[in-house]
Amino acid sequence: MNFYVLTLFPDMITQGMNTSITGRAIAKGVLNLEAINIRDFAYNKHQKVDDYPYGGGAGMLMQAEPVYLSYESIVKRVGKRPRVVYLTPQGRVFNQKMAREMALEEEIVFLCGHYEGIDERVLEEIVTDYVSIGDYVLTGGELPAMVMMDSISRMVPGVLNNQESGETESFAGNLLEYPQYSRPEEWHGKKVPEVLLSGHHENVAKWRREQAIVRTLKNRPDLLKEADLTNKEWNFIRQLKKQWKEEQEEAL
Ligand code: ADE
Repeated sequence: MNFYVLTLFPDMITQGMNTSITGRAIAKGVLNLEAINIRDFAYNKHQKVDDYPYGGGAGMLMQAEPVYLSYESIVKRVGKRPRVVYLTPQGRVFNQKMAREMALEEEIVFLCGHYEGIDERVLEEIVTDYVSIGDYVLTGGELPAMVMMDSISRMVPGVLNNQESGETESFAGNLLEYPQYSRPEEWHGKKVPEVLLSGHHENVAKWRREQAIVRTLKNRPDLLKEADLTNKEWNFIRQLKKQWKEEQEEAL
């Protein structure tokens, strides 16, 4: 996977991505990352990349030409027009399915805006995907680009080792992770659930599956619509809902 990031803050990208699992993958050559400074493509006296918006309004806009030239420098090198993701709160909200799908690309360009945004005309010419990482506003596209690269990388073969890959399946069925415990057996008076100490793999798996369902129902019930559940598990959910409703009524 080849990631290209068009940014005014290339150090932010390289420092973040050269750490931990993505850093290891870059060192191994499974991932390639290039952070390209848009300012290097501003051919004016002060390497200015921004200007006032026509029609007035607060703040400055990134100008079209340096963004376009930085993009063209990639096109020239890779010999095709790669997918270009523009990070913006106005985009489609990123999720695991998009991460899985984007992991199949050979190269992805991330375009990071700053100030009040980027001149619309260059976006129209080069952007293939408008993506948001959630309904809140950040100061720039660098953190969202890193969030996306991190989760896409996990789906690229060779980035995670076998042990790490095993953990990736938890979101696949649209359920949240079950709770996990390590030593000691008792901490602050809290004991590790008995079943996890039993060595009975079938019971452990059953307990974890139930816990995943309980957590998803409590914290993210919207995910259940697309979850892979058996009829028996749907009954379990109905039973839980009924039980919680009764407990609420008793508490009143
Ligand atoms: N730029 C600023 N806020 C953003 C967000 N929530 N997602 C993607 N890009 C952004």
